[in-house]
Amino acid sequence: MRVLVTGGAGFIGSNFIRHLLATEPACHIVNLDKLTYAGNLENLADIERDPRYRFIKGSICDALLVNELLRDGFDALINFAAESHVDRSIQDARTFAETNVLGTQTILEACRRHQVPRMMQVSTDEVYGSLGPSGHFVEDSPLRPNSPYAASKAAADLLILAYFRTYGSPVIITRSSNNYGPYQFPEKVIPLFITNALAGESLPLYGDGLYVRDWLHVQDHCEALALVLKDGVAGEVYNIGGNCERANIDVARLILSTLGKPDTLIRHVKDRLGHDRRYALGTAKIEQALGWKPRISFETGLQETVRWYEGHAPWWTRIKEGQYREYYRETYGDLSQVSRQPSVM
Ligand code: NAD
Ligand code: TYD
Repeated sequence: MRVLVTGGAGFIGSNFIRHLLATEPACHIVNLDKLTYAGNLENLADIERDPRYRFIKGSICDALLVNELLRDGFDALINFAAESHVDRSIQDARTFAETNVLGTQTILEACRRHQVPRMMQVSTDEVYGSLGPSGHFVEDSPLRPNSPYAASKAAADLLILAYFRTYGSPVIITRSSNNYGPYQFPEKVIPLFITNALAGESLPLYGDGLYVRDWLHVQDHCEALALVLKDGVAGEVYNIGGNCERANIDVARLILSTLGKPDTLIRHVKDRLGHDRRYALGTAKIEQALGWKPRISFETGLQETVRWYEGHAPWWTRIKEGQYREYYRETYGDLSQVSRQPSVM
C-alpha cells in the first residue's frame, strides 16, 4: 500500500507514520509537510532511514506539487496538515483559512484528478461546537464551530462531504477528541503544563479551570485511523473519542501530583475568548462498524506521557527556546517567577 501522508511531521502525523510502518510491513509512505513552527523532523528521526519512508517539504496549498506527487500513484492520502492551535486562530485566523480550507480543497481536487482510491481527513470534535454539562455529539450532530480553528476544520469537512456527493470522491472524515502523548507541541495544554512543571514554572489555567475535554491517547487514535484507512466506508464520518472526560483543573492537578509538585504552581489566568465549555463524543459507530475501542486509560497514558517529556528535555527545550518563545511570552507574559506571582488556588 502506498500512502501519501500530509502534515506527517507534526504530533499525530508523526505518531501515525511510526505506527503504520510498524504494523504494515508492505506499506510505503511519502510525507509531505510544510514544516511550519509545529512541524519537526526530529519527531521522525528514528524512522527517517527506513527505505519505505520518504519526506518532501512543501505545502498542501501548492496544487502543482500535490498533483506532481499524486501522479506517482497512491492507494490513499491521509491529511493531518493543519494549523491546529485554537489560541493562535484567535490571534490571526488567516493561515487557518489558507491551510485548513484551501489546502484541503487543493488535496481533494488533486485526488479527484488522479483518482486516488481513498482520501482521509483527520478532523476534530471541535467542529460540533460546545456542549452543556450532559450529552455527547454523534456523527450527524449539526456543525456549530465557535473558534476560527474549529470553523476552518468544519469548512473543510463540508467541502469533503460535498466532493463525495457531487463527484463520488472516495473520502472519509474522522473526528477525534483531544489527543495527548509523545511529540505533542508544548503549546497544547498537557505538554505545556508538564514542561512548565518540570521547569518549575506555573501552569496557566484559563478561567475557572472547569472546562471539560475528552482525552484520547495518540496511540489509540493512530490505531483507529489505521482501521478506518483499511475498512472505513467512503462518504462516512467516524467519531474517535477517548470516553474520558476531565476538567482542566483535574488534569493540572494530576500532572503536578505525578511529578511530586505542589498545586500552588497552578495559576488562573485570563480566559480564552469564546472558550468552548465541554466536548464529548459518542463513539458507538466506530465501535460497532470497526470494532475499535480506546485501550489506554488516562491515568496510565498521562503517567507515561509525563515520563516521556521528562526523558526528552532536549526535544522540548529546543522548541521552547526557539521561535516559540516569543509567542509564549506574548501570550502568557513571564511565568518563571512563580513565587512572586499571586495564585488564587
Ligand atoms: P500539529 O500542529 O502538531 O501538526 C500539524 C502539521 O501540519 C505540522 O507538521 C505542520 O508543519 C504541518 N502543516 C501545517 N500547514 C501545512 C501546509 N500548508 N502544508 C503541509 N503541511 C502543513 O497538529 P496535530 O495535533 O498533529 O494535528 C493533526 C491533525 O489532527 C490536524 O488536522 C488537527 O486539526 C487534527 N486534530 C488534532 C487533535 C489534537 O488533539 N491535537 C484532535 C483532533 C483533531
Ligand atoms: P488545548 O490544548 O489548546 O486544546 P483545545 O483548545 O483544542 O481543546 O486546550 C485544552 C483545554 O485547556 C482548553 O479548555 C483550554 C485549556 N488551556 C488552559 O487552561 N491553559 C492553557 O495554557 C492552554 C493552552 C489551554
